[in-house]
Amino acid sequence: MLRLLGLCLLLVSTHVSAQATPQTIQLQSRVAPAHATLRRRALNPTTVPLDDFFLGTDLQWFGNITVGTPPQVVSVVFDTGSSTLEFASTLCGAACSSQVQFDSTKSSSFVDGGATSSITFSTGVGVDPVVGANYRLTLRSGTDTVSVGGLTAPATKLFLITNQTPKFDIDPFSGIQGMSARAQGFFASLVNQGLPSLFSLFLTPEAVGNAELTIGGIDSTKFTGPLTFASLPSPNSSATWTLNSPQLFVNGKSTSILKATRNIIFDSGTSNILFPTATANAIYALISPDIVPHASEAGTYGIACDQISSLPAVIDIQFTAQNGSPFNLTIPSSELSVGPFADNPAICQTLINAFDGLSLVGGSLLKHYYSVWDVGAQRMGFAAV
Ligand SMILES: *[C@@H]1O[C@H](CO)[C@@H](O)[C@H](O)[C@H]1NC(C)=O
Ligand SMILES: *[C@@H]1O[C@H](CO)[C@@H](O)[C@H](O)[C@H]1NC(C)=O
Ligand SMILES: *[C@@H]1O[C@H](CO)[C@@H](O)[C@H](O)[C@H]1NC(C)=O
Repeated sequence: MLRLLGLCLLLVSTHVSAQATPQTIQLQSRVAPAHATLRRRALNPTTVPLDDFFLGTDLQWFGNITVGTPPQVVSVVFDTGSSTLEFASTLCGAACSSQVQFDSTKSSSFVDGGATSSITFSTGVGVDPVVGANYRLTLRSGTDTVSVGGLTAPATKLFLITNQTPKFDIDPFSGIQGMSARAQGFFASLVNQGLPSLFSLFLTPEAVGNAELTIGGIDSTKFTGPLTFASLPSPNSSATWTLNSPQLFVNGKSTSILKATRNIIFDSGTSNILFPTATANAIYALISPDIVPHASEAGTYGIACDQISSLPAVIDIQFTAQNGSPFNLTIPSSELSVGPFADNPAICQTLINAFDGLSLVGGSLLKHYYSVWDVGAQRMGFAAV
């Protein structure tokens, strides 16, 4: 999340201090009578409305879940770039004073896990993304009942935020629900209860509204064209949503650097785009020589704001569909400007940040498509909206 740069994707460090308690797990074998009908009752798909975190540009989309007994409402970013559930709690006190805080003492189903950990993120969304280490959460483990869209997962693993750095203060939500390519947490529980193992995102621009997450299905009222599916390159081996891309085009052109094969991470919790420095430079070279690194923030680029709106900057990212045909996902020129830099409002930040070691796209691409995240079949689907 170039504000939650895939909170977990860009995990800088993790420190866990937990008392390891040895546990004995009773393994039982259950033999069903030969005449028994083994049938899972299917759960129906459900849709959760999402709000847009908008600060001059669309940053992240978040919606409500409930946690505990009786249920407390917790708003979370549904983040395909991470795997776990963590949210502000009353244990965080003043450090989380701008967020709604979950009170575990008021939940009869909460079980304290007792393990504390801290995570530091390189993160940022929109202007002035952080490529430092000032996004840090301190967590305490637990389990509780989690409901999403009215579907309930008992004894779901979660983390209470017990402290956080001030960079999180502007977030209009309380936490993050990881939605990785491996079923985990509430989603794994619902799939075990019979929910189809996929979810879909409709991440609309602020002006359009009605963004939504559909869990267990596809809301075909939200798009017209066909869905094009592409397979994850390493099925069932990674929690990261990644597709292989053989080529990038900028304004219809490609260069030798852009023709390289790369794995591209899809992170609904990030708004900006990340490419290694050489790739970012090659893309900008095809847009304007006036786009230059912005000295005060490593990895960012900018150009005079009065120049930016007239620049053609169509980025086509080519992928390969399951039937072998190439298809593009396209980021239109309108996404190029992220907004004026805080330290120089005459310079507007451009969409792509240099980040050596990975390629990542997020909301600025996803909001131009209806997207299907098919955990069970290890594939992603896209339809133009
Ligand atoms: C989340 O719940 C609160 C009430 O607790 C409500 O005001 C808000 O509109 C809900 N947000 C969404 C996106 O449904
Ligand atoms: C991935 O795992 C699922 C569930 O175990 C299985 O049904 C599916 O065939 C596997 N897919 C691949 C491509 O290995
Ligand atoms: C992808 O975009 C490039 C550049 O605009 C174009 O030349 C190519 O035909 C597109 N590919 C497909 C499959 O549409």
